Amino acid sequence: MRIPSKNGRPIHIRTLAVHGGQKPDPATGAIAPPIVTTSSYSYGNFDTGVDRFTGEKPGYLYSRFANPTVAVFEAKMAALEGGEAAVGFASGMAAISSTLLAMLSAGDEIISVGTVYGGTEGVIRSLLPRFGVRCVQLARLDELAAAMTPQTRVVYVETPANPILGIVDLEAASRIAHAGGAVVVADNTFATPCLTRPLSLGTDIVVHSATKFISGHGDATGGIAVGTAEAMQKVRQAGMLQLGSCLSPHDASLLIRGLKTMPLRVEAASLSGQKIAEYLNGHAAVGSVFYPGLPDHPGHDIAARQMTLFGGIVSFEMTGGRHAARAFLDKLKLVTQAVSVGDTDSLACHPATTTHSAVPPELRQKSGITDGLVRLSVGIEHADDLVSDIEQALQ
Ligand SMILES: Cc1ncc(COP(=O)(O)O)c(C=O)c1O
Repeated sequence: MRIPSKNGRPIHIRTLAVHGGQKPDPATGAIAPPIVTTSSYSYGNFDTGVDRFTGEKPGYLYSRFANPTVAVFEAKMAALEGGEAAVGFASGMAAISSTLLAMLSAGDEIISVGTVYGGTEGVIRSLLPRFGVRCVQLARLDELAAAMTPQTRVVYVETPANPILGIVDLEAASRIAHAGGAVVVADNTFATPCLTRPLSLGTDIVVHSATKFISGHGDATGGIAVGTAEAMQKVRQAGMLQLGSCLSPHDASLLIRGLKTMPLRVEAASLSGQKIAEYLNGHAAVGSVFYPGLPDHPGHDIAARQMTLFGGIVSFEMTGGRHAARAFLDKLKLVTQAVSVGDTDSLACHPATTTHSAVPPELRQKSGITDGLVRLSVGIEHADDLVSDIEQALQ
């Protein structure tokens, strides 16, 4: 993928992932950003302290507000997503809940479209209403225009969505939301900016669980929000100053390192994901296969427009239900049973009893999260080895 750069010449995402938002450390020349572990920063004298706290002069004050290592991660993500600014968080859920709390007040309304990660669903369905925010959960985008009211402030989408890979048309969602005076927040965790850049399609804020493809190695927890400088100022105020959901500089350092190889890993996982989805499609023990790269996936045409490849997550339904899903998962040898996605290692889980177990059963059924559903996060192992592991586990 090539994207427009500030000097007008398009730049490949691989190059941007290495160099974007980052220069050798001015103090030492270190190419890898130093891990700055201080909690507070000397401002030297009274007047400078006043100027920094009022925002008259830039400068670090306290690592809950901002930190130099975290700032490099934020600058890289802003460059990759094409936003003016970004705010790093301790986890994806910290990024999502802080962003929503920053954008919404009592009396406002949020509409989510399609399935979303179970934790996010919980924030929307049960946390926000406790603070007077009305929440509407829609299954499909074509219901959005009619559901909008003058109180709708946020339209929330996830694409591809966890766990059944639903696709939301980001341009259409943004058009409808903006016509009603709402902003669109898009969770881009599954696609990453390597495959989809939601801000370029009209959405206002992008959020991520950086724990997934951004880290890529299963060794860091983090989140990020990206958008305009004005929106990110609000998000930082709520998320950092008030809620204190700050990202540790140690994790930021791992996330920066992860970003450098993200385009290579995402491409490898996507190419294998396509092969695995094609292998599963039509297998006697498997019912529906949910993968946007399959031509019969309901979101395939939109995905082909807004994604460069179709990603590394494949979900599928075992025709034998929960019993068959359990037997399949317990027989996997190379693929590990665990709930994360986007790691170098392939991981598989049973969403109904793990990631989406807190979603009420009737809502789970309505969203297609059946008892036979298995979610596979394809790693960077060779596709042939993964297919042969899946093959033996299906027997
Ligand atoms: C799509 C999506 N968004 C957000 C999250 C939450 O991220 P975290 O676990 O980093 O809080 C997850 C976690 O699985 C996810 O899959």
